[in-house]
Amino acid sequence: MATINENFLKLQAGYLFPEVSRRVCSFQAQNPDAKIISLGIGDVTQPLAPVVISAMKRALDDMGTEAGFRGYGPEQGYDFLIDAIIENDYKTRGIDLDRNEVFISDGSKCDTANIQEIFGLDDTVAMTDPAYPVYVDSNVMAGRTGKADENGQYDRIVYMPCTAENNFIPELPKTPVDIIYLCFPNNPTGTVADKEILSKWVDFARRTKAVILFDAAYESFITDPEIPHSIYEIDGAKEVAIEFRSFSKTAGFTGIRCAFTVVPKQLKAATSDGRVVDVNSLWNRRHCTKFNGASYISQVGAAAVYTPEGKMQTRQIIDIYRGNAKLICESLTKLGYQVYGGVNAPYIWMKTPDGLSSWDFFDRLLQKANVVGTPGAGFGPAGEGYFRLTAFASPADVKEALQRFAAV
Ligand code: MLT
Repeated sequence: MATINENFLKLQAGYLFPEVSRRVCSFQAQNPDAKIISLGIGDVTQPLAPVVISAMKRALDDMGTEAGFRGYGPEQGYDFLIDAIIENDYKTRGIDLDRNEVFISDGSKCDTANIQEIFGLDDTVAMTDPAYPVYVDSNVMAGRTGKADENGQYDRIVYMPCTAENNFIPELPKTPVDIIYLCFPNNPTGTVADKEILSKWVDFARRTKAVILFDAAYESFITDPEIPHSIYEIDGAKEVAIEFRSFSKTAGFTGIRCAFTVVPKQLKAATSDGRVVDVNSLWNRRHCTKFNGASYISQVGAAAVYTPEGKMQTRQIIDIYRGNAKLICESLTKLGYQVYGGVNAPYIWMKTPDGLSSWDFFDRLLQKANVVGTPGAGFGPAGEGYFRLTAFASPADVKEALQRFAAV
């Protein structure tokens, strides 16, 4: 009989968002008239920018002609998109990248989950707590952790608690670590990191020869000019950091799928016998073996985001979500809730009222207001006592959800 990878058995319960959906579906089945509003999973709701639609229609028409038809594209992505990314996301911030340092993919979820494959199983991973669950789960599946304790914390992971007491900014680890996951603007807390904070991390990684896995999926929500959009705005970061970016939240691509990962050629890691190896070529090797490229149509759509109309139209959409975030923060504060984030970020992180556990507050909000959020405990033990709301709903739904909050 085939045996299984028993690391999978170490995983705690189900993946967070399917578990939330399961509870919502069961509530809806019992209360068919309830008009449930979701401020739960960070999924976009506004239609795609018109310029993206036109570009994708044209790409589809190309595919219907002999001259324009395309089969497999380059695994790393088409140059037209890579060039647009380098030109607009990096050159404008003084960062030079080569084409072969940018890898187009079909999502940052997959990339942040898969990146750990190219690092040693004995590496020690440092993780913020709370964190996007993919970081922890993918390392558990790979066998880089021991079992979870009664708090849900896995042996061999170094947790860096992020709570109101430290403004949700992790402290540098006190024990040696090899791989560090950072996400700014942060999911779930909505916290941002300025240059000083990021420099501290880059210096630490350079000093200790650690690698930073920097998830910047929400960078398009940054409006404060003092907040870096890329970790490569920090001197020396190319030697120690891999950056993940996505069109999901920037341009509403959660259903289209297109993202990219930057692996600088300066980034090195060691073999167990001390040889120094280029990380970029290993990621390229993995990418070519396991991935056949994002679809031509989605890459054409993504490239349209960088045209002048694309920039304007996607900015207008993001401004809608930013308006939602502002309204959520203001309204909940008026109602007496303690709220964090929601500025330069699409997530609002709130303290649960009356000392309720985050899942108990989830149930109360669902039952009394028919509003869905995400329990903080789902992002890690330090998320207990907190609750996450997203700004990605329609403005009308956000307004109604906030009115219903008054009755909770
Ligand atoms: C979230 O709600 O945390 C995100 O939507 C999840 C994701 O991007 O995969």
